[in-house]
Amino acid sequence: MENVFYIDGKFLKEREAKIPVYDLGLLRSYGVFDFLRTYNRKPFYLKDHLKRLLNSAKIIGLKHNYKIQELEKLVILALNKNKHLKEANIRIILTGGDSYDFITPAKPRLIIMITPVKELDEKLYEKGAKLITKTYERINPNAKTLIYCDAIKFLQEAKRKKAVEVLLIDKNNEILECTTSNFFAVINKQVITPPKEKILEGITRKLIINLCRKYKIPLIERKIYKEEIKKFNECFITASNKEILPIIKIDDFKISSKPGEITNFLMERFKELTKNY
Ligand SMILES: Cc1ncc(COP(=O)(O)O)c(C=O)c1O
Repeated sequence: MENVFYIDGKFLKEREAKIPVYDLGLLRSYGVFDFLRTYNRKPFYLKDHLKRLLNSAKIIGLKHNYKIQELEKLVILALNKNKHLKEANIRIILTGGDSYDFITPAKPRLIIMITPVKELDEKLYEKGAKLITKTYERINPNAKTLIYCDAIKFLQEAKRKKAVEVLLIDKNNEILECTTSNFFAVINKQVITPPKEKILEGITRKLIINLCRKYKIPLIERKIYKEEIKKFNECFITASNKEILPIIKIDDFKISSKPGEITNFLMERFKELTKNY
């Protein structure tokens, strides 16, 4: 069975799902997107992802008439056209549409891609993974725009160095987030994560914060500096495509020999959340 995508009011087989070369998303990266997955065939926290999509559009001034409810319906419809998939990744993209002067936004284009879930290697969750660091600040950090040029470049370097992600640090040495994940550390049994102002507020991040509150694990949102890496007892990253991924090494600095106790506890609780969704 072939995957079915939604483009501009039509459901099309993956092979036939094409957009014009005049699309501003392609020409100028003028567009936003959001990404989520299903658990038990239900889109996980869909409303939160759609709210973030519309907020991203607002941040870059992308005008459209889509409402959350309508988008919700379209995602469910698209999912129902892909019954052959046990679980699905859902990518919702909104671009500035076809621009024949190559710069002026036109009728916005909505794309919904439904593809199979690709999970990371189970060993990474058991043994922990590595990060490399880069001094870098994302443009419009609160928005999920189509601009991932530097992320793509950095991730290729990470791959060469056997790291899963790249930890972005600003010029004041503040740890921000990774290219497509949020960052958490544990110091003296307290979970810390950078404040939301300079990052993308991850939906998984929000769920982890809620889990910490529920299970009375001390958590604080505060600035974390690169110098503090030496003090980390544990750390992990979070994202819709990774859930909670334990990190045991940052550049050449070894945090721990295996995933930490609090990280493992939160991973278990998160598994319960998805299992019962
Ligand atoms: C820059 C950035 N930060 C964080 C995240 C994690 O967000 P979420 O947990 O909503 O997937 C993403 C997701 O792709 C991202 O692109």
